[in-house]
Amino acid sequence: MGKLELKNLTFQYPDAAAPVLENLNLTVEEGEFVCILGASGCGKSTLLSILEGLREPTSGSFLINGQEVIGPGPERGVVFQHYSLFPWMTAKQNVIFGIKQVRKDLKKKQLEELAQSYLEKVGLGADGNTMPAQLSGGMQQRVAIARALAMDADILLLDEPFGAVDTRNRRTLQKLVCDLHEIEKKTFLFVTHDVEEAILLADRIVFMTPGHIHQIVDVDIPKPRDYEQIRNDERFVSLRKMLIDLFYEKYADYTLDSMEAKL
Ligand SMILES: Nc1ncnc2c1ncn2[C@@H]1O[C@H](COP(=O)(O)OP(=O)(O)OP(=O)(O)O)[C@@H](O)[C@H]1O
Ligand SMILES: [Mg+2]
Repeated sequence: MGKLELKNLTFQYPDAAAPVLENLNLTVEEGEFVCILGASGCGKSTLLSILEGLREPTSGSFLINGQEVIGPGPERGVVFQHYSLFPWMTAKQNVIFGIKQVRKDLKKKQLEELAQSYLEKVGLGADGNTMPAQLSGGMQQRVAIARALAMDADILLLDEPFGAVDTRNRRTLQKLVCDLHEIEKKTFLFVTHDVEEAILLADRIVFMTPGHIHQIVDVDIPKPRDYEQIRNDERFVSLRKMLIDLFYEKYADYTLDSMEAKL
């Protein structure tokens, strides 16, 4: 069960002059893949921190399966932009740590086997004994995804998880996330400022302007989607143009350089 609802959700940082999120309304159905798309500073990470349960809405509410949410919970797994592995633990120990948060009943050998199976799902079956510092950024994010999946949360919250990964590796990781969504049937909420990434992954794209949900766009392209196959697809091309035009229109005060960096 992983249905999310935001109802008139507003959030203001304690010392700020104005809210950073204002009156957001959104329903994400169980099993859906939703991308939150918007330029730097529009409030994406703040929203994710509320969904994670680290911050409380100033007004309005956030519900999971109809229940108001207070604080973090085991039904939500999180992957951040900045690598969040414990540096003193191996890849496998990091995954085991995650499993232990939700499964107190497993013995050491069962924990090892379960962690190994999740490392295999993300293509790191042979890297369990490696320390994070010896893994590339993309591999560290795979471990973080394995850890989130291994906790068997119904909802996965990902905040620009591939923001610091180079383009080629990012494509591989996007494919991995796509495949995992098909297999695991979980609800995915994925923050990005990359238009193509959003089209590649999402069932629906939530386009944000600072503090607001400006528009919700259906991505009507059959899944699974392969970047090389769909990049010239008419639907992909027109959706990409529409979203980039929206960026230019809604973030008109951005300099061209920073826009290009964000796209
Ligand atoms: N702890 C904080 N206290 C006060 N203001 C904050 C805090 N964290 C973020 N903000 C402000 O809230 C706004 C939204 O920030 P947020 O980090 O949510 O944006 P974002 O969309 O995730 O940006 P990016 O794409 O750069 O990660 C920004 O104006 C930011 O300066
Ligand atoms: Mg952010």
